[in-house]
Amino acid sequence: MVTVVVNGVRRDIQSPADTPLLYVLRNDLELSGPQFGCGLAQCGACSVLLDGKEIRSCITPLSSASGKEVTTLEGLPARWAQQKGLSKADADKTLHPVQQAWIEEQTPLCGFCQNGMMIKAAELLEHNATPTLADIKEAFTTSGPSPHLCRCGSYTAIIDAVQRASSLMAKGR
Ligand code: FES
Ligand code: FES
Repeated sequence: MVTVVVNGVRRDIQSPADTPLLYVLRNDLELSGPQFGCGLAQCGACSVLLDGKEIRSCITPLSSASGKEVTTLEGLPARWAQQKGLSKADADKTLHPVQQAWIEEQTPLCGFCQNGMMIKAAELLEHNATPTLADIKEAFTTSGPSPHLCRCGSYTAIIDAVQRASSLMAKGR
C-alpha cells in the first residue's frame, strides 16, 4: 500500500507501487483532469504538481509519490484558497486565477492539452508572479522533460492567459 495526499486528502492506494501515478489518479481516484497523451513524458497532458513541482504523471511510479502531496487540476482552487488564507465558504466558490484566466481568454480549443498547460502555469506563477514573455515561453518549452504540446495550436492564447492570470493574482483574485 502507498499513501499519498491528493488534493489535500490522504489516500491509501492498493495498486502496485510501480503503477504509473496517472493510472492511479484516473482509474483509482476517478480524477479526470490529468490526461493520457503520449505516455512517454513527451507532451505534458498528464501533468500534476508533486510537492508543488510539475511532474509527468504518466512516467512517475506511484512509489515516487509516497508520502508526498499531489495536486491535480481539480485541486487548484483549494491550493489557491489555502495560499490566500480564504475561508471555507469563500474557497468553495473560488477558482484558481489560472483557471479563471483560461475561461476569460477562452483558451482551449479541443482542450486535451489544457490540463498540463494550466498545471504548468500554476507552477510558474507560484515562483514568478510577473513572468516576462521569455519566462512564459521558457516554462512551456525547455523547463521540463519536453515542451508542452498543443496539437490545436493554442500557444498564443496560452501566453495571453498566463499574463491574465498574473494580473488577476496581482489584484488578489
Ligand atoms: S501523457 Fe504524460 S507527457 Fe504525454
Ligand atoms: S487545445 Fe487541442 S491539443 Fe491543445
